[in-house]
Amino acid sequence: MGYIKSAALEEKGFVILDSYDQSLDPKEWLDIEYVDWKSSGDTRFAPLASAKGEIECNGFWNHKPPRTDKDGVWIDSQVAKAPNLARRAQEPGANVGRCRVIELQPTPYGDCLYNLHQDDNNRLNPDGTGWVVRGFFNLTDDKDSFFVLRENRTDPQGEVRIALPAGAQLIIDTQRLWHATTHNGTEPRYNLITSWTSGPELDAYIEKYHGTDQHEQFEVPQDVLEHGYAEQARKDAARAAYYAAKGQQAKLAMSEA
Ligand SMILES: [Fe+2]
Repeated sequence: MGYIKSAALEEKGFVILDSYDQSLDPKEWLDIEYVDWKSSGDTRFAPLASAKGEIECNGFWNHKPPRTDKDGVWIDSQVAKAPNLARRAQEPGANVGRCRVIELQPTPYGDCLYNLHQDDNNRLNPDGTGWVVRGFFNLTDDKDSFFVLRENRTDPQGEVRIALPAGAQLIIDTQRLWHATTHNGTEPRYNLITSWTSGPELDAYIEKYHGTDQHEQFEVPQDVLEHGYAEQARKDAARAAYYAAKGQQAKLAMSEA
């Protein structure tokens, strides 16, 4: 039967929406409660919606009973502190699974490439229902930072780099695309990540905000790119050697954000 997916994401696996005027809203991400949660890079997370409405970040499939990344339960204490973020996550009217703010410490390009991963949003998702994709709303004004998207983790051909000023809004099929963020700066970057179920509501939202898969490539000097490729290869080799020494196969971290 297959999953219900958005035509707008079919070709490239992502769309960029109109920018949001972040300057009008208070910095709610500084008021909510964070938990340590190892993701790709040096991160913490502040959940707004979780499996059972508690302040934790585990995948819904790790709860009992296990379920897919849908029907997240809003956390009252967090929503009270971040009403604008909750409103924005609910604006499409699509089903929301996990919804959380990620805090990412500065991450150079090579580390970002090492962090490239695919999400697991559609584990246990019943065939014939909506495919889970994720919204990314950049909250801080990270003009020197960019999202990296690849079809193949170790192949830079076709790499997409999207700038992350405040108000940048993306929707990404994060189970299809390898993704991570290069964060150049001295302060943490904050981004609201929401799992949405594909369907007519999300399609209408994408249309309303002029979703496009045409992007302006964030320019990075060639020497920085090549240093990054080498760093990714070096770190991958080090990880493989570590697991080989333990008699295990190196496994890629399947993680959030
Ligand atoms: Fe992710």
